[in-house]
Amino acid sequence: MKKVIFDTDIGIDDAMALLFLHYARDVDLQAIVTGFGNASIEDTTRNALYVRDRFNIAAPVYRGAEESMSTSLFDSYPDFVHGKNGLGDIDIPHIRATHESTDGAQAIVDIATANPGDISLVAVGRLSNVANALKLCPELPQLLRELIVMGGAFGFNGHRGNVSPVAEANIAGDPEAADIVFQSGIPTTIVGLDVTAQTTMDDNFFELLKNEAGDAGQFIFDISRHYLAFHEERTGRHVCSVHDSSAVAYLLAPELFTTRDAGVRVVSTGPAMGQTIWSDPNVSYQTGTWNELPRCKICTGVDSRGLLTLYRKTLLSAVDHS
Ligand code: BDR
Ligand code: CA
Repeated sequence: MKKVIFDTDIGIDDAMALLFLHYARDVDLQAIVTGFGNASIEDTTRNALYVRDRFNIAAPVYRGAEESMSTSLFDSYPDFVHGKNGLGDIDIPHIRATHESTDGAQAIVDIATANPGDISLVAVGRLSNVANALKLCPELPQLLRELIVMGGAFGFNGHRGNVSPVAEANIAGDPEAADIVFQSGIPTTIVGLDVTAQTTMDDNFFELLKNEAGDAGQFIFDISRHYLAFHEERTGRHVCSVHDSSAVAYLLAPELFTTRDAGVRVVSTGPAMGQTIWSDPNVSYQTGTWNELPRCKICTGVDSRGLLTLYRKTLLSAVDHS
């Protein structure tokens, strides 16, 4: 069993990733930690509670960061991507459940401390909570088993940015936090646009989920309408990239990915704000601290068909839970 903390700005693809984790056989979901990003912290936390309770997910919800550490490329929430409520504007009933009183960053520290070497932290929003947790606990890199991040873009497979020519949304929303995290020495794998934009879900895929995966399939179908409309407007195709679920796929089946080791820094100001830059550990650079950076793994390739099959198979087991 993999003990997992899911750190999310729960939005449409985050909700799909959460259900992927929930129905995966060998995952013990210890906590859902929310952050601002796809919507405000109030809305993402409400969404986490809603999805948790609708699908009987046995994990506490901790409310995390409501803003970036310092700079951000954004001054509003992307309702044109995720809807005003963050879940594609489906009807969300009033939620009675409340989040835990402990702050999200503190919860990461507490759970990692109680389970040294055992926790996989899957972070699919801004890295604000992880950076705040590092501030609270500088030993966190030794306590976590691994950190899997959906974020960034390194130019592999022709993918650079989705919110600027060089920046990806999760990193651009809190670049300093990302830079702190990538330099911290936490064993980190970065699942960036290089691979997440390589895998797409189309109408046929969503229809199959709706028909085969019970209420979870219906829910995914419903929230994806808004997301697909956004993608169609941008690309002319009624298909969407598989961002956050690719990070979960890496947790469940890393063999679906190719990776390479790299030092990673993040640009925090100027026109390239949010750009992720990788340095090659086999090259001796003449300037800066590029040679001393801790190594992360960055994903450079993905077996998209295998990933989609894993997602579909995992979601099919939702029927057994209903
Ligand atoms: C990332 O940004 C958010 O909109 C998605 O949830 C995903 O985590 C993709 O750039
Ligand atoms: Ca996300």
